[in-house]
Amino acid sequence: MYKIQKNSTCKTGRNDPCPCGSGLKYKKCCLGKDGATKFYNTKKLYSQKYGIRLKQNADIEGIKKAGRLALKTLDLVESKIRPGMITDEINTLVHEFTIKNGAVPACLNYRGFPKSVCVSVNEVICHGIPGKRVLKDGDIVNVDVTSILDGYYADTSKTFFVGTPGSEAKKIVKVASESLIAGMSMVRAGNTIGDIGWAIQRHAEEKGCSVVREFVGHGVGFDFHEPPHIPHYGQRGEGIKLVSGMVFTIEPMINQGKRHLSILEDQWTAVTKDGLLTAQFEQTLLVTDNGFESLTPFDL
Ligand code: MF3
Ligand code: CO
Ligand code: CO
Repeated sequence: MYKIQKNSTCKTGRNDPCPCGSGLKYKKCCLGKDGATKFYNTKKLYSQKYGIRLKQNADIEGIKKAGRLALKTLDLVESKIRPGMITDEINTLVHEFTIKNGAVPACLNYRGFPKSVCVSVNEVICHGIPGKRVLKDGDIVNVDVTSILDGYYADTSKTFFVGTPGSEAKKIVKVASESLIAGMSMVRAGNTIGDIGWAIQRHAEEKGCSVVREFVGHGVGFDFHEPPHIPHYGQRGEGIKLVSGMVFTIEPMINQGKRHLSILEDQWTAVTKDGLLTAQFEQTLLVTDNGFESLTPFDL
């Protein structure tokens, strides 16, 4: 059981460097400013207790910049997607656009992942490896981009239609989009991680769909995957309390059929066990006192 130590509170002296990283003395900078001391106390506590690294203004600006690039990358892919294209062409687009903009694709060589983006078609839940698969009219394809710009990571994905979608494709993509909205609507300081998963699960199951459990959202910003886990299922009021400065993804994978998955022989590609459709949207979110700010904002 973790006990909060008395000395875990902030003991920054008036003449010490300001914990905000400005380089100024604390007394010339954040000392006495509304909420500053409380923020630094919480920052230290969350780091010690959970390994969660809260972000401050300069970090948030950096993640936002990476997020803008990741979104532009998704826009580029959307403009080029068409039946007949192979998924490796999406990889080339993402890789070249990322490098051209002075960034690095986080997926490339991440734990041995061989490509610069995940491309997951129809029954592929996530971590699809771009290759020779040909996109057909009516397919749905999730493209998951993580850009590293000036050392900051932003992680975002959308599911696109290839050509003209059928009614089942339209439905699962809509429910996946709504499920992300449901999760995001619970993000505010004072709520818990369990509230997010509860809202997502309730929405998806109400629509007759299911929620993948083996993959979860995650802290992000200084690294690709940071604590905490953000499950897309769960109980109201359970789990860690959200505080301002937390940055994490919500990325519910919503299945048309049962929630169960298999991993292919490549050790990456996750597919629905029943072979039915699955869809996903992902954004990188900052917790604020009043709610959240998306650092990879797009319409859902
Ligand atoms: N972008 C994925 C996520 O949302 C992670 C992909 S890891 C990779 O967390 F290695 F497959 F690229
Ligand atoms: Co993610
Ligand atoms: Co992602």
